[in-house]
Amino acid sequence: NIRRVRALQVIDSRGNPTIKAYVELAGGGYGWGIAPSGASRGEREAVELRDGGRKWRGKGVSRAVAIVNTIVAPRLEGVDSRRQSYIDRLLIELDGTPNKSRIGGNTTTALSIATARAAADQAGLELFQYLGGAGARRLPIPILNVINGGVHAGNDLDFQEFMIVPHGFNSFTDAIRAAVEIYGELRGLLKERYGATAVNVGDEGGFAPPMRKAEEPLQTLVQAVEKAGYEPGREVSLGIDAAASQLYRDGRYLVEGKAISREELLNIYQRLVENYPIVYLEDPFSEDDFESFKAAVEALSARTLIVGDDLLVTNPERVKEASADGAVTGLLVKVNQVGTLTEALEAIQAARDRGVAHIVSHRSGDTEDTFIADLSVATGALMIKAGAPARSERTSKYNRLLEIEDTLGYSASYAGPELLGLIRG
Ligand code: PGA
Ligand code: ZN
Repeated sequence: NIRRVRALQVIDSRGNPTIKAYVELAGGGYGWGIAPSGASRGEREAVELRDGGRKWRGKGVSRAVAIVNTIVAPRLEGVDSRRQSYIDRLLIELDGTPNKSRIGGNTTTALSIATARAAADQAGLELFQYLGGAGARRLPIPILNVINGGVHAGNDLDFQEFMIVPHGFNSFTDAIRAAVEIYGELRGLLKERYGATAVNVGDEGGFAPPMRKAEEPLQTLVQAVEKAGYEPGREVSLGIDAAASQLYRDGRYLVEGKAISREELLNIYQRLVENYPIVYLEDPFSEDDFESFKAAVEALSARTLIVGDDLLVTNPERVKEASADGAVTGLLVKVNQVGTLTEALEAIQAARDRGVAHIVSHRSGDTEDTFIADLSVATGALMIKAGAPARSERTSKYNRLLEIEDTLGYSASYAGPELLGLIRG
């Protein structure tokens, strides 16, 4: 049973304060969890509780820490840490708002993760095995954001993320090796073409070259894949997160300096998907534009996953609605978008019940917490999105997965070879 709960203010990869929670069990089990933080947040996400004022530039979380130490701790002490859904419901009740604005989605996220870790520790199990059982043996496909744009970088790329998807391999380890080799070739290509400043990196460890049109990063990525000796489309494909809510103004989308219609934007995607080996397209339209997501699924889903991030905000009800409507073929899972592990697992189940794949994701402001690596294996995620193979808050997730694959040995499998069959039906 839980003996002690406390919280502490720490900092994330952007240098902003965030909350770390600790859960100590009477039997000696121990767990911790740190909330990550997004920059291109969905409108319907759980709210982060921050102090305001001048200290920590208004972003302090001392109120959240105080809530844990004085209000939450007495309620959780004595409770069996294995009762994750009971504990998460207790947090939801204590908060009492639809968007967790009273005690904060950052507070509940850190506590929810800390509870799961403590229970796994007590059980003497690896976290992915505690959460996923003995059947949790498949490693997800890493999708690595190697060219950053949008609000994550100081360049003119409208779309936020350009990813490499190393799927045509027999193990996660081989996929990461390919990604690292491609990342190195990409660095060389960019330096040669745009000079040394082009290889400065953005928030997620990808390069932020002075590019403008979406074709430029895609073309360069295909070249980097080839230079590294891999076959584009067969071994390594590409992905885009347009993060289109950020481009949306009054019914139109601001792309390459023009305000275009949703039909024109869909035409752009169509052209890109025809000309480049794209298998992953996230948030192609704004978070309220269900109809355009449906049009994207109809037009493009034979070639690429259509993934909802801001559209779904890891909310089970939104996932049910969008999946039943044919608005997505993929769900992006960010625990802190909804605020508890239990609700995130419900969202995953809702997607799975309706034949929608799920992708476990980091945030652009992240930390040394590797929880999402274990979560991806535990839930049999098709993919994990954790940034470039650079910057420790990104590599820690990939490193944890390398470790899990090693731990599993011959019983491990890799999701990569299933990808093309899944998309092409
Ligand atoms: P965020 O963005 O973590 O900055 O919200 C990541 C994403 O849009 O996938
Ligand atoms: Zn996104």
